[in-house]
Amino acid sequence: MRLTGKVALITGGGGAIGGAQARLFAREGAAICVADLFPEKAAAVAEEIAAAGGRALAVRLDVQRADAWAEAVAATEQAFGPVSILCNNAGANVRVGFDEQTEEMWHLIVGTILTGSFLGIKAVIPAMRRAGGGVIVNLGSLASIRPGAGSPGYGAAKMGLVGLTRSAAASYARENIRCMLISPGHVDTPFIRDDTPYSPNDPQTSIDNPANYERRLQNTPLGRLQRADDIASAFLFAVSDDAAMITGSMITVDGGAALL
Ligand SMILES: NC(=O)c1ccc[n+]([C@@H]2O[C@H](COP(=O)([O-])OP(=O)(O)OC[C@H]3O[C@@H](n4cnc5c(N)ncnc54)[C@H](O)[C@@H]3O)[C@@H](O)[C@H]2O)c1
Repeated sequence: MRLTGKVALITGGGGAIGGAQARLFAREGAAICVADLFPEKAAAVAEEIAAAGGRALAVRLDVQRADAWAEAVAATEQAFGPVSILCNNAGANVRVGFDEQTEEMWHLIVGTILTGSFLGIKAVIPAMRRAGGGVIVNLGSLASIRPGAGSPGYGAAKMGLVGLTRSAAASYARENIRCMLISPGHVDTPFIRDDTPYSPNDPQTSIDNPANYERRLQNTPLGRLQRADDIASAFLFAVSDDAAMITGSMITVDGGAALL
């Protein structure tokens, strides 16, 4: 029960990585606000937590909207007390290169990942002050280490999170608020498997295509794609007191992918 008394707001909480964090943090004693663009996905995770004896609330949140952030943070505080943990997982990508990427795609990607995380940090800081401290964890990517010729919006946004994480860490350390970045490699989730409005995939990009799965596997020296639970475990470490003296830094959970 490493998170007894903590209140965690988890974006993309209806998704694979966010959902795994929500279930794990609830088992560790935290009360959870499961926040997602799709309320039915958030509700399913919150119901699962409640059925297992945990405490959870589901909210609809588009991370690109400051007013929606204010409502989600207030609803969480009313239900459980001030937010002391924020996990910024919500993401978007359109897997096309520079020539094909439109301004609209750019705004979706950068707006969700980078602006969404910025707005989230601003929204929870007053609550974390009231809580006497807090931890913010942003979700990076291999693109936070070595963005290449793929989606320019994704590379810029995930690299941008390195700067945003350091900026928040430096701004709030003296108020007992830490900020970290966790960068997964290839995680078997709907983000790279399914065709969704925020992360479109087709046979050329989806890991449903055995050739794409095999390519990502070959690019992972530890020999398997990551599971959502692998990423959630690192988040638990980052938000727990085991990481009390860690702020501003990045942890990679990539099976060695960034080494290649
Ligand atoms: N799967 C991977 O291989 C991988 C690798 C590195 C990083 N990531 C990062 O993980 C995140 C995706 O999570 P996942 O892999 O569990 O996929 P997922 O598709 O299961 O979850 C993403 C969740 O984010 C929600 N979401 C999308 N736009 C939103 C918005 N504007 N506001 C609130 N919620 C929104 C979706 O509804 C979904 O529930 C992204 O940030 C992505 O960059 C994934």
